[in-house]
Amino acid sequence: MSRALVVVGTQWGDEGKGKVVDYLTERADVVVRYQGGNNAGHTVVVNSEKFILHLIPSGILHPDKLCVIGNGVVVNPEALLQEIDELKKRGVKVDNNLRVSRSAHLIMPYHMAVEGARETAKGDKRIGTTRKGIGPAYVDKYARVGIRVGDLLYPEILREKIEMNLTEVNFILTRLYNQEGFDPEEVYTQYRGYAERIAPYIADTDVLINRALDEGKKVLFEGAQGTLLDIDHGTYPYVTSSSASAGGVCTGSGVGPTRIGEVLGVVKAYTTRVGGGPFPTEIKGPLGERLRERGGEYGATTGRPRRCGWLDLVALRHSVRVNNLSGLILTKLDILDGLDTIKVCTGYRYRGKSIEEFPKDAYILQECEPIYRELKGWKRSTSGVSDFGMLPEEARSYINVIEEVLGVKVDIISTGQKRHEIIVRREVL
Ligand code: GDP
Ligand code: IMO
Ligand code: MG
Repeated sequence: MSRALVVVGTQWGDEGKGKVVDYLTERADVVVRYQGGNNAGHTVVVNSEKFILHLIPSGILHPDKLCVIGNGVVVNPEALLQEIDELKKRGVKVDNNLRVSRSAHLIMPYHMAVEGARETAKGDKRIGTTRKGIGPAYVDKYARVGIRVGDLLYPEILREKIEMNLTEVNFILTRLYNQEGFDPEEVYTQYRGYAERIAPYIADTDVLINRALDEGKKVLFEGAQGTLLDIDHGTYPYVTSSSASAGGVCTGSGVGPTRIGEVLGVVKAYTTRVGGGPFPTEIKGPLGERLRERGGEYGATTGRPRRCGWLDLVALRHSVRVNNLSGLILTKLDILDGLDTIKVCTGYRYRGKSIEEFPKDAYILQECEPIYRELKGWKRSTSGVSDFGMLPEEARSYINVIEEVLGVKVDIISTGQKRHEIIVRREVL
């Protein structure tokens, strides 16, 4: 059992990280988001009440735990305040149990405008982003012109940075994209307005997290997106702009690598993807639609229908490797109930040759055809099952195949949206 546990998505996001993190938070003291922004949509169902979290860690529904938005996250202050207000309205405690890193970068309104213009200009080559300004905010961070959460507290610095950035951005928006520019004074006034409300949450979160670990507390790191959307290890350029895989934890929260105990990968029992990019095991037609309807596969952030397909063990082998996963958490097993056969992809064929390792280039992956192994489906319902022995034999052998091919154990299996609809084979925290 570890005191610093990472939960990452192993596919293209929406694996059920929110449900898993909410479940594990019961045993944790601190829950930390380390990358991404409000492009994420993590659904948690508690007592039939549904919550969708975008920026705030999924641990927030447990009032006595500390939730941290780490320095690696990009924060849209308007979205953050809206999320806080909505949670409070529904009776969820959000005050001294939430802390936001002073060093996290801010998403500005012009980030969304630039992204929208760029996506539209790309036509059918677009990435299909959530248009939340994530990419441009990280661009500014790495170009060293970003505005950080802490800058909200220094009006003159905030004003100066906004003015400087808009000189360039307004040129691009008006001259290249034929759009309206932004008035620096208006943006400044808007963000000064947020400053007052966000100030109480701002902290040196690296200090908080490391101190908690020093005191023997348990820290859970919640990934957003998934490994195949990781800026380095995903299907570039059809990825998000942050390090969604486990490597991002250290830089995105200020915790050294040797403090991390273990990394669990969340695997949906099939695969989904929102937006553009290659997806070898995608099922087009009625079966794909069946999965989408049964699984409720519509984007939690944008409402877009998710593309659905079979489990891809080639892609997962890559995720296991780059995260060095110590265990797997299999979700949405119940969505596969009732199928005659279930396919799993165990290899690819590329221009007549078989490939065993996940290709690094999207244009190669685009041409890969999956090689499937067919397994027998199960006819009984697995919905809500909480005991491994109660699963149909075929479901257990599906899990065995996953474990054998990936060489990692499935420690937890989720069989429904609710907290108790879960099978725990090993206590992980
Ligand atoms: P995340 O982004 O990884 O947190 O995943 P999302 O919340 O975007 O999408 C997962 C969806 O599946 C949510 O609606 C969850 O409530 C739901 N879900 C999670 N685990 C299970 C499960 O085991 N069975 C079923 N039926 N639904 C699940
Ligand atoms: P969670 O945390 C699924 C996808 C977008 C697009 C690409 C880039 O809920 O798993 P971005 O707006 O990040 O620049 O878009 O990444 N994407 C997600 N897909 N789940 C998510 O988050 C996602 N966050 C971004 O659809 O293809
Ligand atoms: Mg999601």
